[in-house]
Amino acid sequence: DRSIKIAPSILSADFANLGAEIRAVEAEGADWIHVDPMDGHFVPNLTIGPNVVAAIRPHVTTFMDVHLMIAPADPYIEAFAKAGSDMITVHAEAGPHLHRTLQSIRGHGAKAGVALNMTTPLSHIAHILDAIDLILVMTINPGFGGQKFTRSMVEKVAEARAMVGDRPIHIEVDGGIDPATAPLVAGAGADVLVAGSAVFKGGSVERPQVYGENIRAI
Ligand code: DX5
Ligand code: ZN
Repeated sequence: DRSIKIAPSILSADFANLGAEIRAVEAEGADWIHVDPMDGHFVPNLTIGPNVVAAIRPHVTTFMDVHLMIAPADPYIEAFAKAGSDMITVHAEAGPHLHRTLQSIRGHGAKAGVALNMTTPLSHIAHILDAIDLILVMTINPGFGGQKFTRSMVEKVAEARAMVGDRPIHIEVDGGIDPATAPLVAGAGADVLVAGSAVFKGGSVERPQVYGENIRAI
């Protein structure tokens, strides 16, 4: 379905060649570029900060979708916005005043997303939908690429789609998306599919056509 966007997660790219990797996946059909900052506290891994996001910004010609796995997120919103994030998604579990955080994101000129860990119910955000541009339904425990998709999240995606109705809110899924699991979540109503290992596996900046094959297979 061409209305489904594929957002390659550069967590699975070659970090020594991020600019070239981004240009390659965009040339091969990526709709958005998904970026995964992690703080070693909210999740058990450390990845990239706002300086790296700013450095890759000129290489992104589509849409830079930044998924913050940082708690608290508030002190870093300004830096990630100034680095050029188009969407800043924060975890619902990352602070006590989610609505304030979302207002801060929009106040800095970015779109505002909310990620829900698998154990966080949709009811958490049911009453603040006007403040939200994207709901990210996690289908793994965040922290690492290459983990196994959690089947029971398909129902959560369907419930998110029903809750959103005709509001202009994206429903994104992240974790274990591949050619076998993508149709399940797309069928349940997700419109943005993050995929890291399934896009980058087998390819490289020297063999970018593999990325295209992988994207078209999802
Ligand atoms: C993990 C990140 C994901 C990760 C997905 O915490 O949020 O974006 O890169 O990787 P795959 O697609 O390999 O599960
Ligand atoms: Zn992510």
